[in-house]
Amino acid sequence: GKLSLGVMLPSLAIMGVACALGALITFYLLPSLTPMFIHAQLFGHDLSKVQGRQIRTPESMGVITGCVFLVLTIVLIPVSFSDYFSLAHKAAFPHAELVKVLAALLSIACMLLLGFADDVLDLRWRHKLLLPSLASLPLLMVYYVLFDGTVIVVPVILRPLLGANIDLGLLYYLYMGLLAVFCTNAINILAGINGLEVGQSIVMAASILVFNVGEMDGSLGHYHRFSMYFLLPYLATSLPLLFYNWYPASMFVGDTFCYYSGMTLAVVAILGHFSKTLLLFFMPQIFNFLYSVPQLFHMVPCPRHRLPAFNAETDRVQMSLSVFKQQDLRFWGRWILYVFRMARVIHYREFVKEEEVWVECNNMTLINLVLRICGPMHEQTLTIVLLVFQVFCSVLAFFIRYPLAYLFYGE
Ligand code: UD1
Ligand code: MG
Repeated sequence: GKLSLGVMLPSLAIMGVACALGALITFYLLPSLTPMFIHAQLFGHDLSKVQGRQIRTPESMGVITGCVFLVLTIVLIPVSFSDYFSLAHKAAFPHAELVKVLAALLSIACMLLLGFADDVLDLRWRHKLLLPSLASLPLLMVYYVLFDGTVIVVPVILRPLLGANIDLGLLYYLYMGLLAVFCTNAINILAGINGLEVGQSIVMAASILVFNVGEMDGSLGHYHRFSMYFLLPYLATSLPLLFYNWYPASMFVGDTFCYYSGMTLAVVAILGHFSKTLLLFFMPQIFNFLYSVPQLFHMVPCPRHRLPAFNAETDRVQMSLSVFKQQDLRFWGRWILYVFRMARVIHYREFVKEEEVWVECNNMTLINLVLRICGPMHEQTLTIVLLVFQVFCSVLAFFIRYPLAYLFYGE
């Protein structure tokens, strides 16, 4: 009914006041809590600054923005369901809507915990993959019980072969689980320069918000209102963090921020039924992940940090290198480096040292690739270049989502 459609987004005025308050609280809380983080040994050194190694920069400040974000969304629950508190309406209480919110909160809270654990303990890869898949289980269950939509529409050109629709069944759930794992990790591996982690997250969240606003009056409007219910508080708490993390950063966001941000975007897209659109907004992260695969799976040696190298004399950053003996490369490593060289997407050099052949290549991240193409630049310029690229991809995403979708899917 009409009532249940409005349920997921409290009136804009209440939402606005809550978010403004949340932003203000975050803005004051962040600097005032930094001594606590330093005291708890939660600090890092800004590797791309002249004085960076002497200064302690508080790490994992995302745990604060994450908590304020959770508090906001939790406090807004009773507000958004208050229409049903009167005796007359109690019977019509939309339990399903509440379950969606709770499952979403559970997944996001789990990732906040995982991220913080990673910041404090430096987890292994298997934890970073296993825990998000577990955290997405309640989400998938809610999806199953409430919609169980696993049918995808086939592009027009393939319809003579496959028919108009395919039911992916269990595979669709596998896809959504993997999506959650991908989103939690994707932001964290496109990182290492001031402002980039929060910057890209904000661009993606804002793009989804624009998409939600555009779709709000459609037949699926309630899904988009559900998404806005999380994205508005998310943006309100992330913007102050960007302020402090921007060049020259006075705090780092930590894996905490990267993980819960990715999960938040995955959650709203899965329960909002626009996961394919979400992937369009993640284009730079998808590219960065695919480009990183050889190093992530250790086919090519991967140093602990792949962030750009800092040149103190010019105050610029340049691509960072992985240097190793050629004989350390196995079959796949050689093969991939060959393909990357042919495609001209890698810096590669062989040299002889102490009668052995050594290889150097740039670390395989989008950041280093940009530096290879454009040459060394100032750290802040690099962040701006990458964020402009992220915005460009969002614009492209809207173009693919609307005009091109008509071409592929008709109507
Ligand atoms: C991920 C990347 C790693 C990259 C790191 C940078 C992969 C597989 N891992 O690791 O290559 O080097 O992020 O965040 O791709 N730092 C800065 N300036 C910044 C941000 C971070 O110098 O603007 C440094 C600081 O020393 C900070 C540290 O990076 O303490 C944080 O690294 P961390 O988030 O722990 O690295 P990972 O997420 O494990
Ligand atoms: Mg990190």
